[in-house]
Amino acid sequence: MALYENEKLRSDHLFVDAEGHAMKTKDIFGHIIRYMKQRLLDDLKTRGNTVKEDNILWVVTVPAIWNDGAKQFMREAALAAGISEKRLRLALEPEAASIYTREILLERSSTDDQEESLVFKQGMKYIVIDLGGGTIDFTLKEVVDDNTIKDFHQATGGPWGGRTVNRMILDFLEDLLGKDVLEELKTNHKSSWLELEREVELKKKNAKGDKDGRILIQMPGELLDVFEKKTGKKLINSTAFESKYAGKIDIKGKKLRIDKCIVESCFKKCLEDIIQHTKSILEKPEAKGTQYIILVGGFAESEYMKTEMPKAFEDFKVFIPDEPWLAVMRGAVMFGQRPSVVESRIARYTYGIATIRFFLKDFDNPKHRIYEDNVPYCRNVFDKLAEVGQSFRLGETVTTEVFAHKEFMSKMKVKVFRSTEKDPRYVTDESCTAIGEMLVAMPGYGKDRKVTVSLCFGEEEITCSGINESNESVHVKLNLLADN
Ligand SMILES: Nc1ncnc2c1ncn2[C@@H]1O[C@H](COP(=O)(O)OP(=O)(O)OP(=O)(O)O)[C@@H](O)[C@H]1O
Ligand SMILES: [Mg+2]
Repeated sequence: MALYENEKLRSDHLFVDAEGHAMKTKDIFGHIIRYMKQRLLDDLKTRGNTVKEDNILWVVTVPAIWNDGAKQFMREAALAAGISEKRLRLALEPEAASIYTREILLERSSTDDQEESLVFKQGMKYIVIDLGGGTIDFTLKEVVDDNTIKDFHQATGGPWGGRTVNRMILDFLEDLLGKDVLEELKTNHKSSWLELEREVELKKKNAKGDKDGRILIQMPGELLDVFEKKTGKKLINSTAFESKYAGKIDIKGKKLRIDKCIVESCFKKCLEDIIQHTKSILEKPEAKGTQYIILVGGFAESEYMKTEMPKAFEDFKVFIPDEPWLAVMRGAVMFGQRPSVVESRIARYTYGIATIRFFLKDFDNPKHRIYEDNVPYCRNVFDKLAEVGQSFRLGETVTTEVFAHKEFMSKMKVKVFRSTEKDPRYVTDESCTAIGEMLVAMPGYGKDRKVTVSLCFGEEEITCSGINESNESVHVKLNLLADN
C-alpha cells in the first residue's frame, strides 16, 4: 500500500518500519521472494519430490496499478533473491487474474446449466475486478475471437481493499475505548496490538455473527489494563451503556460482543466506493455493451461482497469463481506454462524520442531554436512512437526515422522519453521523463543519412533499438524506474 501511494518508484526507495528503521524496499522484496522460494523447495523435499531448481520457472506477480517501473523493480528484487534471469517471468496481476477468468469463462460457456452458462463469443465485454487487501484493480476486456482477448480500457483502481474494513473496525474500537488507549497499545504493547489486529481480521471474515447477530471480539488483557490506567475506570458493561453504541454492544471480561450492523457499516463504506468506481467505468463510451462483472481476489470471498455486488449491478451478470483469492496465483501459473495467453497490453505512458527538425516559425517556442549553416532548427521535439492508452500486441514494434541534421555527424545520440500526456510537444515539458539513450554510428556523409529507431513492447519490458543504413544496430534497455 505504501508503495501504491508512492507514484515515483525508485530502485533505492527506502521503507521505514514502525520503529524508524529504514531498509531498501528492493531488499525487503528480495528477502520475501527468497523466503517463499526456499519454503517451496523445502516443502517439495519433505514430500520426497526431487524437482531440480534449474527446472523450475518462477512467475512473480506485479500489481498493475503501479507504473511500468514496478516490473523492473520486481525483476531486480527477484534476481537479488537468487532466481536466475532465465528462470524468471513476471506477470501483471490483473493480467493473471484475467487469464484465469478466461479459462473459467470458457469452461462456463460449455456448461449445460442455463443458469450458469456464459456466452464467451466475439464482442463479449467484461470487467475483471480484483478485490485485494490493499487495492481494487479493474481491467476491461473484450473477446476478439476464440483465441484473442484485448484490453479495451486501461486498468485503474483505488485503495478500497479488504484492509479498509479492518481499519474501520479499529476506528470503531478507538471511538469506543479512546484514541489514546489504542495509541498506547499500538506504541508500547506491540504484541497485544498485533493480537487485536489478528482478532479483527478473523472476525471480519465471519461477519454473519452468532444467533443473536452479534460478533465476539476477544480483547487482549493489556487493552483492559491500558484502558483502566488511562481512564481510572474498569472496562465493564456499564461502559458500553455510557457510549453511543448502547444496546449494540456488551462487555463481559475480555469479551466484547458487537452487533453485526456495526461491522456491516464498515463493509458498506468500501462497497460504496467500489460500486461508484465500477459505475464510472461502465459509463465510459468504450464500456458500452459490457455484460459481465467478474470478481476475484480475497475480498471477493466476503459474504457481504458476494450478496451486495450482484444487488448493485442487477443489469449485469456478476460472476465470482470458486476460491477467488487464488485467481491471480492460478492465472500466473497458467501464464508461466503458456505466456502467449497474454495478447495485448495498453501503454501506460506516451513514448517517444528527442528529435531535431526544421523550426516552424509560428508554432515553435524560440527557446528551442538552434542554427546549423544558418538554417533554423528546433531541438527537443518529442517524436511520438506510442501513445498512452494505445493497445499493443506482445512483441509489437513501432518505428520512426531520424535524419542527420549535420552533414558530417559521425554518431547520432538517441534519447528516449516517456510522458503522461497524449501529445507532449517538447521533451523538456514537465510531463516528460528521460528513460534511456543510445549512440548509433552514422557511416558516410550528408543529411540524407538516417537511423531507424524502434520501440518493442516485449513480454515484460519495453526495449528500444536504433539501426543505421549499414544495418548496424544498438539496443538499449529502458530504465522505467524513477531514478533519473
Ligand atoms: N471471507 C472473507 N471475508 C472478508 N474478507 C476476506 C475474506 N477472505 C479474505 N478476505 C480479505 O481479502 C483480503 C486479501 O485479499 P488478497 O489475498 O486478494 O489480497 P492481496 O492480493 O494480498 O492484496 P492486494 O491485491 O491489494 O495487493 C484481506 O483484506 C482479507 O481480509
Ligand atoms: Mg492481489
